[in-house]
Amino acid sequence: MIRACVIGWPIEHSRSPLIHGHWLKVYGIAGSYAKVAVRPEETAAFLRSMREQGFAGCNVTLPHKETAFAVADDKSPAACAMGAANTLWFAGGRLMADNTDSIAFIEHLRASVPRLSLRNNLVALLGAGGAARALVYAFLEAGAAEVRVFNRTRERAEAVARHFGAAVKVHDWDRRVDGSREVTLLVNATSLGMKGAGKLDMDVSRLDERCVVADIVYVPLVTPLLATAAARGLVTVDGLGMFLHQAVPGFEKWFGVRPEVTDELRALVVADIEGR
Ligand SMILES: NC(=O)c1ccc[n+]([C@@H]2O[C@H](COP(=O)([O-])OP(=O)(O)OC[C@H]3O[C@@H](n4cnc5c(N)ncnc54)[C@H](OP(=O)(O)O)[C@@H]3O)[C@@H](O)[C@H]2O)c1
Repeated sequence: MIRACVIGWPIEHSRSPLIHGHWLKVYGIAGSYAKVAVRPEETAAFLRSMREQGFAGCNVTLPHKETAFAVADDKSPAACAMGAANTLWFAGGRLMADNTDSIAFIEHLRASVPRLSLRNNLVALLGAGGAARALVYAFLEAGAAEVRVFNRTRERAEAVARHFGAAVKVHDWDRRVDGSREVTLLVNATSLGMKGAGKLDMDVSRLDERCVVADIVYVPLVTPLLATAAARGLVTVDGLGMFLHQAVPGFEKWFGVRPEVTDELRALVVADIEGR
């Protein structure tokens, strides 16, 4: 039986087992996917002995993504660009690392708004944390001309700009409304809007009427940002699709089947989010 897992600290909240458990059932694979709580000081040792413990690989969530990147023998270009990994597997005895958040965001965006192309276009990004870095990488890979980063802590946005180069422009957090007027896509990658976190104060009335508004927060599924954007008639993209798509590459590496993100899977996770 093939075994995989997700590691984090804490890990109880993780919905990854729901996704992989669903796919194991749908594809009739005799495998398992578990949650494993790993203390930060034990992460490197856990990963180095993962194979001996019988795991084909794992997903990695907070706060272990940087350690996972550092410990891996071979790293994908996306993982290198972010300095963090969320998906690990073995190839020829070597520990391989990828970061699937950026491709997941793009795949969900393409599936949700097929008409949208980022090539030579402007993107506004709220936030400059770990997830924001994955998105900057995704936008630049998709050919965006400019990514405007608005972050409460300006130095953090400046660090992102230094890392990714001249196409990333840093703006003050207070300029997020005026500085987003003509963008093609606006994405919230702060934790604001998430259940239990603060409110995101973002006036969408001045965005271009063709601007697509996305949120990577997915609890609640329809964040206040998405609700106000939709009420204005703008096309919106929720954060859940990114979460579902980031799981695809790992499942394929461990279990040998490329799984599909279906309405059935989405409904399963939505029911869990809504406590049904
Ligand atoms: N859909 C998905 O698959 C997916 C994947 C990854 C993450 N996420 C979600 O994305 C969010 C960010 O994750 P992360 O890992 O990037 O977290 P992070 O590294 O901790 O970054 C948090 C970001 O939120 C900003 N922020 C927090 N409180 C704020 C406030 N009161 N006012 C203004 N800005 C504030 C921070 O600004 P400062 O720099 O000023 O602190 C920073 O930019 C989380 O809600 C996470 O659940 C979703």
